[in-house]
Amino acid sequence: MEILKTENLKVYLKQRHRIVKALDGVDIFLKKGLTTSLAGESGCGKTTLARTILGFHAPVAGKIYFKDTDIALKKNEALIRKNIQIVFQNPFLSLNPRYTIFSALYEALRVFQRVDREKASEIITRVLSEVELEDDCMDRYPHQLSGGELQRVCIARSLINKPPLIILDEPTSSLDVTTASKIMKLLIKLQKVHSITYLFISHNLRVLKKISHVCFIMYYGKIVEYGPKELLYNNPLHPYTRLLFEAANHTLKFMPQEHAVEQGCAFAPHCDLADQACRDSLQRAEPEPGHFVYCHHSDK
Ligand SMILES: Nc1ncnc2c1ncn2[C@@H]1O[C@H](COP(=O)(O)OP(=O)(O)OP(=O)(O)O)[C@@H](O)[C@H]1O
Ligand code: SF4
Ligand SMILES: [Mg+2]
Repeated sequence: MEILKTENLKVYLKQRHRIVKALDGVDIFLKKGLTTSLAGESGCGKTTLARTILGFHAPVAGKIYFKDTDIALKKNEALIRKNIQIVFQNPFLSLNPRYTIFSALYEALRVFQRVDREKASEIITRVLSEVELEDDCMDRYPHQLSGGELQRVCIARSLINKPPLIILDEPTSSLDVTTASKIMKLLIKLQKVHSITYLFISHNLRVLKKISHVCFIMYYGKIVEYGPKELLYNNPLHPYTRLLFEAANHTLKFMPQEHAVEQGCAFAPHCDLADQACRDSLQRAEPEPGHFVYCHHSDK
């Protein structure tokens, strides 16, 4: 069952001298209780998609369904806040430095639950233990915790009102390898315990391998390939997806900078297989059941 899906979602953002088509007709779906990953290089539109789902950007076209409700409409703010939480890349920027951990969690809790401090303390102790933190960190301020501990606090905050869907936007990118690996294990454990659905965003497909069930690859505001993790990892078909796999240790820079791509495949200027058909139109193929690719020559 799909808990969330987008249909032909378009978000155009105004910059000083131009309009950026940050999302240019995005269709994704999130299956309940599973992790859907979204990968693509910097600037391809991953965070814009997360922010649009959360209602921070107004789409110029398209739909976002949470279950059967179109949440792209502003009037659904309360439904979004209750059901969808987000964990960002940098936990230092996600928490108010003047609030203790208790205050940060209590504030999040009070949005949906009327509880006195005693009851709140009980709930906060429990959620801190779920993210494997001692309850004595409650009285500390963010600067008194490590990056990994702070990210656990952010995860606790996202969990505290038991939302069915959590968006994780590069949640381990600012952490060292060992800490990042522990956070990934924690997220996998929490998903099993609470049957949470994750949308996990990263630029690095290797990071996503362990946690993903379904993968979407994004390039320049468009999905270029998607399918079950095993199919996509064993048989990446889009030339851009293949480059993403090769780029685990360096930064990709294939995003068009100044020119707008009005039709056809935006990746054509970088693709050895590009021909006139690629420049004229986009074509979706399903080379194996459930595995989709937007490419004219995915068989080559
Ligand atoms: N608030 C904004 N106003 C104008 N343009 C924006 C805004 N936010 C993002 N953009 C532009 O939209 C495009 C997509 O940005 P986005 O932050 O979604 O990319 P991303 O895939 O999350 O990148 P990264 O991996 O670096 O986080 C980029 O061209 C970016 O410059
Ligand atoms: S559609 Fe054509 S240009 Fe685009 S990735 Fe496929 S082969 Fe390359
Ligand atoms: Mg981002």
